[in-house]
Amino acid sequence: MITPTPLMRLVAGVWGFKTLAVAVELGLFTRLAGGRTVTVDEAAAEFGLAERPADMLLAACASLGLLEKAGAGYRNSDLAEQFLVEGAPYYFGAQVRYSDLRTYLPWHRIGEALRTDRPLTWDPQAQDSMFDTADPAMLAQFWDAMYSTSSFTARALADAYDFGGHERLLDVGGGAAAFPIELCRRLPHLSATVLDLPHVCARAEDRIAEAGLGGRVGTVAGDFLTDPQLPGGHDAILLSMILHDWDEPTNRALLAKCHAALPAGGVVVVCELLLNDERTGPPEAALMGMNMLVETEGGRNYSGAEYAAWLADAGFVDVRTVPFDAPGANGAVVGRRA
Ligand SMILES: C[S@@+](CC[C@H](N)C(=O)[O-])C[C@H]1O[C@@H](n2cnc3c(N)ncnc32)[C@H](O)[C@@H]1O
Repeated sequence: MITPTPLMRLVAGVWGFKTLAVAVELGLFTRLAGGRTVTVDEAAAEFGLAERPADMLLAACASLGLLEKAGAGYRNSDLAEQFLVEGAPYYFGAQVRYSDLRTYLPWHRIGEALRTDRPLTWDPQAQDSMFDTADPAMLAQFWDAMYSTSSFTARALADAYDFGGHERLLDVGGGAAAFPIELCRRLPHLSATVLDLPHVCARAEDRIAEAGLGGRVGTVAGDFLTDPQLPGGHDAILLSMILHDWDEPTNRALLAKCHAALPAGGVVVVCELLLNDERTGPPEAALMGMNMLVETEGGRNYSGAEYAAWLADAGFVDVRTVPFDAPGANGAVVGRRA
Protein backbone atom coordinates (compact mmCIF):
# COMPACT_ATOMS: atom_id res chain seq x y z
CA MET A 1 0.00 0.00 0.00
CA ILE A 2 1.31 3.45 -0.87
CA THR A 3 1.33 5.79 2.14
CA PRO A 4 2.12 9.49 2.59
CA THR A 5 5.07 8.59 4.84
CA PRO A 6 7.66 9.64 2.19
CA LEU A 7 6.01 13.06 2.11
CA MET A 8 6.25 13.36 5.90
CA ARG A 9 9.93 12.48 5.57
CA LEU A 10 10.34 15.44 3.22
CA VAL A 11 8.51 17.72 5.65
CA ALA A 12 10.88 16.53 8.37
CA GLY A 13 13.92 17.20 6.15
CA VAL A 14 14.10 20.78 7.27
CA TRP A 15 13.74 19.69 10.92
CA GLY A 16 16.66 17.32 10.45
CA PHE A 17 18.83 20.03 8.92
CA LYS A 18 18.02 22.50 11.71
CA THR A 19 18.71 19.86 14.36
CA LEU A 20 22.15 19.28 12.81
CA ALA A 21 22.72 23.02 12.52
CA VAL A 22 21.84 23.84 16.12
CA ALA A 23 23.95 20.96 17.41
CA VAL A 24 26.93 22.27 15.40
CA GLU A 25 26.21 25.81 16.66
CA LEU A 26 26.27 24.53 20.25
CA GLY A 27 29.52 22.69 19.60
CA LEU A 28 27.92 19.41 20.72
CA PHE A 29 30.05 17.10 18.57
CA THR A 30 33.28 18.94 19.32
CA ARG A 31 32.56 18.66 23.05
CA LEU A 32 31.97 14.92 22.67
CA ALA A 33 35.20 14.37 20.68
CA GLY A 34 37.28 11.32 21.45
CA GLY A 35 34.48 9.03 22.62
CA ARG A 36 33.19 11.15 25.52
CA THR A 37 29.68 10.14 26.67
CA VAL A 38 27.01 12.41 28.18
CA THR A 39 23.66 11.65 29.76
CA VAL A 40 20.69 13.94 29.15
CA ASP A 41 21.15 15.55 32.59
CA GLU A 42 24.86 16.16 31.99
CA ALA A 43 24.18 17.66 28.53
CA ALA A 44 21.44 19.86 30.00
CA ALA A 45 23.86 21.21 32.62
CA GLU A 46 26.73 21.63 30.16
CA PHE A 47 24.73 23.52 27.52
CA GLY A 48 22.50 25.42 29.93
CA LEU A 49 19.34 23.69 28.70
CA ALA A 50 16.28 22.37 30.50
CA GLU A 51 15.97 18.58 30.67
CA ARG A 52 13.14 18.39 28.08
CA PRO A 53 14.95 20.10 25.15
CA ALA A 54 18.23 18.37 26.01
CA ASP A 55 16.48 14.99 25.88
CA MET A 56 14.87 15.82 22.55
CA LEU A 57 18.08 17.16 21.01
CA LEU A 58 20.12 14.08 21.93
CA ALA A 59 17.38 11.68 20.76
CA ALA A 60 16.97 13.60 17.50
CA CYS A 61 20.73 13.61 16.87
CA ALA A 62 20.80 9.86 17.51
CA SER A 63 17.88 9.33 15.13
CA LEU A 64 19.83 11.18 12.42
CA GLY A 65 22.92 9.02 12.86
CA LEU A 66 24.93 11.79 14.52
CA LEU A 67 25.03 10.30 18.03
CA GLU A 68 24.79 6.74 19.32
CA LYS A 69 23.64 5.34 22.64
CA ALA A 70 26.36 4.29 25.08
CA GLY A 71 24.90 2.88 28.30
CA ALA A 72 22.68 5.58 29.79
CA GLY A 73 24.30 8.30 27.72
CA TYR A 74 25.13 9.31 24.16
CA ARG A 75 28.43 9.63 22.27
CA ASN A 76 29.41 10.76 18.76
CA SER A 77 28.71 8.35 15.91
CA ASP A 78 31.65 7.70 13.56
CA LEU A 79 30.09 10.20 11.13
CA ALA A 80 30.04 13.01 13.70
CA GLU A 81 33.45 12.09 15.09
CA GLN A 82 35.06 12.23 11.65
CA PHE A 83 33.34 15.25 10.13
CA LEU A 84 31.75 17.40 12.85
CA VAL A 85 34.55 17.77 15.39
CA GLU A 86 36.26 21.12 14.88
CA GLY A 87 39.83 20.70 13.72
CA ALA A 88 39.22 17.28 12.13
CA PRO A 89 41.00 16.95 8.75
CA TYR A 90 37.75 16.89 6.74
CA TYR A 91 35.66 19.04 9.10
CA PHE A 92 32.24 19.63 7.48
CA GLY A 93 30.81 21.97 10.11
CA ALA A 94 31.69 25.12 8.16
CA GLN A 95 29.34 24.01 5.36
CA VAL A 96 26.59 23.39 7.92
CA ARG A 97 27.13 26.87 9.42
CA TYR A 98 27.17 28.61 6.02
CA SER A 99 23.99 26.86 4.90
CA ASP A 100 22.31 27.76 8.18
CA LEU A 101 23.41 31.40 8.29
CA ARG A 102 23.42 32.36 4.59
CA THR A 103 21.06 30.18 2.56
CA TYR A 104 18.44 28.74 4.92
CA LEU A 105 16.34 31.91 5.25
CA PRO A 106 16.57 32.83 1.54
CA TRP A 107 15.39 29.28 0.72
CA HIS A 108 12.22 30.20 2.60
CA ARG A 109 11.46 32.49 -0.39
CA ILE A 110 12.12 29.84 -3.04
CA GLY A 111 8.73 30.55 -4.64
CA GLU A 112 9.94 34.08 -5.38
CA ALA A 113 13.06 32.72 -7.09
CA LEU A 114 10.92 30.37 -9.18
CA ARG A 115 8.69 33.21 -10.32
CA THR A 116 11.41 35.82 -10.93
CA ASP A 117 14.33 33.56 -11.98
CA ARG A 118 16.55 35.75 -9.82
CA PRO A 119 18.89 34.84 -6.95
CA LEU A 120 17.84 35.38 -3.34
CA THR A 121 21.13 35.56 -1.42
CA TRP A 122 22.52 38.68 -3.16
CA ASP A 123 21.33 41.59 -5.27
CA PRO A 124 22.26 41.44 -8.99
CA GLN A 125 21.73 45.25 -9.15
CA ALA A 126 24.49 45.78 -6.60
CA GLN A 127 27.15 43.20 -7.55
CA ASP A 128 28.23 41.14 -10.58
CA SER A 129 27.97 37.74 -8.92
CA MET A 130 27.72 36.18 -5.46
CA PHE A 131 31.54 35.97 -5.46
CA ASP A 132 32.07 39.69 -6.04
CA THR A 133 31.76 40.69 -2.41
CA ALA A 134 33.53 42.62 0.32
CA ASP A 135 30.98 41.50 2.94
CA PRO A 136 33.21 40.26 5.79
CA ALA A 137 30.65 37.69 6.95
CA MET A 138 30.40 36.24 3.45
CA LEU A 139 34.19 36.23 3.11
CA ALA A 140 34.53 34.43 6.40
CA GLN A 141 31.79 31.90 5.73
CA PHE A 142 31.51 30.99 2.04
CA TRP A 143 35.10 30.05 1.27
CA ASP A 144 35.46 28.21 4.58
CA ALA A 145 32.28 26.31 3.67
CA MET A 146 33.72 25.46 0.26
CA TYR A 147 36.93 24.27 1.89
CA SER A 148 34.91 22.21 4.34
CA THR A 149 33.07 20.49 1.48
CA SER A 150 35.86 20.27 -1.06
CA SER A 151 38.64 18.85 1.07
CA PHE A 152 36.79 15.51 1.17
CA THR A 153 35.63 15.81 -2.45
CA ALA A 154 39.30 16.24 -3.42
CA ARG A 155 40.17 13.06 -1.56
CA ALA A 156 37.39 11.12 -3.33
CA LEU A 157 38.43 12.55 -6.72
CA ALA A 158 42.06 11.57 -6.10
CA ASP A 159 40.96 7.99 -5.29
CA ALA A 160 38.87 7.80 -8.47
CA TYR A 161 41.08 9.64 -10.96
CA ASP A 162 44.84 9.09 -11.17
CA PHE A 163 46.61 12.45 -11.16
CA GLY A 164 49.92 10.56 -11.15
CA GLY A 165 50.49 11.32 -14.83
CA HIS A 166 50.25 15.10 -14.34
CA GLU A 167 52.84 17.53 -13.01
CA ARG A 168 51.23 20.97 -12.91
CA LEU A 169 47.60 21.55 -12.02
CA LEU A 170 45.66 24.77 -12.63
CA ASP A 171 42.63 24.97 -10.31
CA VAL A 172 40.34 27.47 -12.03
CA GLY A 173 38.16 29.20 -9.42
CA GLY A 174 40.07 27.16 -6.87
CA GLY A 175 38.68 29.06 -3.86
CA ALA A 176 40.59 28.40 -0.64
CA ALA A 177 42.79 25.77 -2.39
CA ALA A 178 41.17 22.63 -0.96
CA PHE A 179 41.94 20.55 -4.06
CA PRO A 180 45.58 21.64 -4.55
CA ILE A 181 46.30 21.09 -0.85
CA GLU A 182 44.78 17.58 -0.77
CA LEU A 183 46.27 16.54 -4.13
CA CYS A 184 49.77 17.92 -3.43
CA ARG A 185 49.82 16.20 -0.03
CA ARG A 186 49.14 12.89 -1.77
CA LEU A 187 51.34 13.37 -4.84
CA PRO A 188 54.85 14.65 -4.02
CA HIS A 189 55.70 15.34 -7.69
CA LEU A 190 52.63 17.60 -8.25
CA SER A 191 52.57 21.40 -8.05
CA ALA A 192 49.49 23.56 -8.46
CA THR A 193 48.18 27.06 -9.12
CA VAL A 194 44.89 28.47 -7.83
CA LEU A 195 43.32 31.01 -10.17
CA ASP A 196 40.67 33.06 -8.38
CA LEU A 197 39.53 36.61 -7.67
CA PRO A 198 42.07 38.71 -5.71
CA HIS A 199 40.19 38.69 -2.37
CA VAL A 200 39.87 34.90 -2.62
CA CYS A 201 43.56 34.37 -3.43
CA ALA A 202 44.35 36.01 -0.09
CA ARG A 203 42.26 33.33 1.69
CA ALA A 204 43.90 30.59 -0.36
CA GLU A 205 47.37 31.88 0.57
CA ASP A 206 46.52 31.52 4.28
CA ARG A 207 45.37 27.91 3.83
CA ILE A 208 48.40 27.05 1.68
CA ALA A 209 50.77 28.50 4.31
CA GLU A 210 48.96 26.59 7.10
CA ALA A 211 49.41 23.39 5.10
CA GLY A 212 53.13 24.14 4.64
CA LEU A 213 52.78 23.90 0.86
CA GLY A 214 53.94 27.42 -0.04
CA GLY A 215 56.71 26.02 -2.26
CA ARG A 216 54.38 23.90 -4.40
CA VAL A 217 51.01 25.66 -4.47
CA GLY A 218 50.74 29.24 -5.72
CA THR A 219 47.93 31.63 -6.54
CA VAL A 220 47.22 33.86 -9.52
CA ALA A 221 44.63 36.62 -9.18
CA GLY A 222 42.48 36.80 -12.27
CA ASP A 223 38.99 36.74 -13.73
CA PHE A 224 38.18 33.62 -15.73
CA LEU A 225 35.18 35.34 -17.30
CA THR A 226 36.88 38.47 -18.63
CA ASP A 227 40.58 37.54 -18.93
CA PRO A 228 41.17 36.63 -22.59
CA GLN A 229 43.19 33.56 -21.61
CA LEU A 230 44.03 31.31 -18.66
CA PRO A 231 47.60 31.00 -17.34
CA GLY A 232 49.65 28.49 -19.36
CA GLY A 233 52.25 25.95 -18.22
CA HIS A 234 49.86 23.40 -16.70
CA ASP A 235 49.10 19.89 -17.95
CA ALA A 236 45.81 19.50 -16.04
CA ILE A 237 43.01 21.98 -15.40
CA LEU A 238 40.39 21.44 -12.69
CA LEU A 239 36.95 23.04 -12.68
CA SER A 240 35.32 22.04 -9.38
CA MET A 241 31.83 23.39 -8.70
CA ILE A 242 32.51 26.14 -11.24
CA LEU A 243 30.35 25.31 -14.26
CA HIS A 244 27.18 24.86 -12.16
CA ASP A 245 27.43 28.58 -11.28
CA TRP A 246 27.00 29.78 -14.88
CA ASP A 247 24.88 29.42 -18.01
CA GLU A 248 25.75 27.29 -21.03
CA PRO A 249 27.33 30.00 -23.25
CA THR A 250 29.57 31.13 -20.35
CA ASN A 251 30.61 27.54 -19.69
CA ARG A 252 31.34 26.80 -23.33
CA ALA A 253 33.53 29.95 -23.49
CA LEU A 254 35.41 28.86 -20.34
CA LEU A 255 35.98 25.35 -21.69
CA ALA A 256 37.37 26.87 -24.91
CA LYS A 257 39.83 28.89 -22.76
CA CYS A 258 40.81 25.69 -20.92
CA HIS A 259 41.45 23.95 -24.24
CA ALA A 260 43.59 26.85 -25.48
CA ALA A 261 45.64 26.93 -22.24
CA LEU A 262 46.53 23.20 -22.26
CA PRO A 263 49.35 21.50 -24.17
CA ALA A 264 48.62 18.44 -26.35
CA GLY A 265 47.80 15.56 -24.00
CA GLY A 266 46.70 17.91 -21.18
CA VAL A 267 43.38 17.20 -19.47
CA VAL A 268 40.44 19.15 -18.13
CA VAL A 269 38.59 17.68 -15.13
CA VAL A 270 35.02 18.90 -14.52
CA CYS A 271 34.10 17.90 -10.98
CA GLU A 272 30.41 18.37 -10.12
CA LEU A 273 27.21 16.90 -8.66
CA LEU A 274 26.10 15.51 -12.02
CA LEU A 275 22.45 15.05 -12.90
CA ASN A 276 21.69 11.71 -14.53
CA ASP A 277 20.99 11.87 -18.25
CA GLU A 278 17.22 11.30 -17.73
CA ARG A 279 17.16 14.34 -15.39
CA THR A 280 15.47 12.44 -12.56
CA GLY A 281 18.20 12.67 -9.92
CA PRO A 282 20.13 11.96 -7.89
CA PRO A 283 18.56 14.31 -5.31
CA GLU A 284 21.94 15.76 -4.25
CA ALA A 285 22.49 17.02 -7.81
CA ALA A 286 18.90 18.07 -8.54
CA LEU A 287 18.59 19.90 -5.20
CA MET A 288 21.99 21.55 -5.64
CA GLY A 289 20.46 22.75 -8.91
CA MET A 290 17.61 24.35 -6.95
CA ASN A 291 20.25 25.89 -4.69
CA MET A 292 21.82 27.44 -7.79
CA LEU A 293 18.47 29.14 -8.35
CA VAL A 294 18.79 30.65 -4.87
CA GLU A 295 22.47 31.61 -5.21
CA THR A 296 23.26 32.34 -8.88
CA GLU A 297 21.87 34.20 -11.88
CA GLY A 298 22.40 31.64 -14.61
CA GLY A 299 23.71 28.49 -12.93
CA ARG A 300 22.17 25.04 -12.75
CA ASN A 301 23.37 21.49 -12.24
CA TYR A 302 23.99 19.83 -15.59
CA SER A 303 24.13 16.18 -16.61
CA GLY A 304 27.27 14.23 -17.46
CA ALA A 305 26.03 14.04 -21.07
CA GLU A 306 25.77 17.84 -21.28
CA TYR A 307 29.33 18.33 -20.02
CA ALA A 308 30.58 15.58 -22.34
CA ALA A 309 28.97 17.28 -25.35
CA TRP A 310 30.45 20.69 -24.47
CA LEU A 311 33.89 19.17 -23.96
CA ALA A 312 33.73 17.42 -27.34
CA ASP A 313 32.56 20.66 -29.01
CA ALA A 314 35.51 22.49 -27.39
CA GLY A 315 37.88 20.01 -29.06
CA PHE A 316 38.55 17.58 -26.19
CA VAL A 317 38.83 13.86 -26.98
CA ASP A 318 38.59 10.63 -24.95
CA VAL A 319 35.84 12.23 -22.86
CA ARG A 320 34.77 9.97 -19.98
CA THR A 321 32.97 10.21 -16.64
CA VAL A 322 34.59 8.96 -13.43
CA PRO A 323 31.99 8.36 -10.68
CA PHE A 324 32.63 8.71 -6.94
CA ASP A 325 30.80 9.69 -3.75
CA ALA A 326 31.54 13.02 -2.07
CA PRO A 327 29.56 15.99 -0.74
CA GLY A 328 30.58 18.41 -3.51
CA ALA A 329 30.59 16.03 -6.47
CA ASN A 330 29.41 12.58 -7.51
CA GLY A 331 31.74 12.38 -10.46
CA ALA A 332 34.16 14.08 -12.81
CA VAL A 333 33.93 14.42 -16.57
CA VAL A 334 37.44 14.29 -18.00
CA GLY A 335 38.59 15.25 -21.50
CA ARG A 336 42.05 15.31 -23.13
CA ARG A 337 43.44 17.82 -25.57
CA ALA A 338 44.52 15.86 -28.68
C1 LIG B 1 31.55 27.39 -5.88
S1 LIG B 1 33.15 28.02 -5.63
C2 LIG B 1 34.18 26.62 -5.98
C3 LIG B 1 35.51 26.71 -5.30
C4 LIG B 1 36.43 25.50 -5.54
N1 LIG B 1 36.62 25.23 -6.93
C5 LIG B 1 35.90 24.29 -4.82
O1 LIG B 1 35.33 23.40 -5.46
O2 LIG B 1 36.03 24.25 -3.59
C6 LIG B 1 33.39 29.04 -7.05
C7 LIG B 1 34.73 29.73 -7.06
O3 LIG B 1 34.87 30.45 -8.31
C8 LIG B 1 35.47 31.68 -8.03
N2 LIG B 1 35.11 32.65 -9.08
C9 LIG B 1 33.88 33.09 -9.36
N3 LIG B 1 33.90 33.95 -10.40
C10 LIG B 1 35.20 34.05 -10.77
C11 LIG B 1 35.87 34.77 -11.80
N4 LIG B 1 35.18 35.55 -12.63
N5 LIG B 1 37.21 34.63 -11.91
C12 LIG B 1 37.91 33.84 -11.05
N6 LIG B 1 37.32 33.10 -10.07
C13 LIG B 1 35.98 33.22 -9.93
C14 LIG B 1 34.88 32.08 -6.69
O4 LIG B 1 35.61 33.09 -6.05
C15 LIG B 1 34.89 30.75 -5.96
O5 LIG B 1 36.10 30.55 -5.26
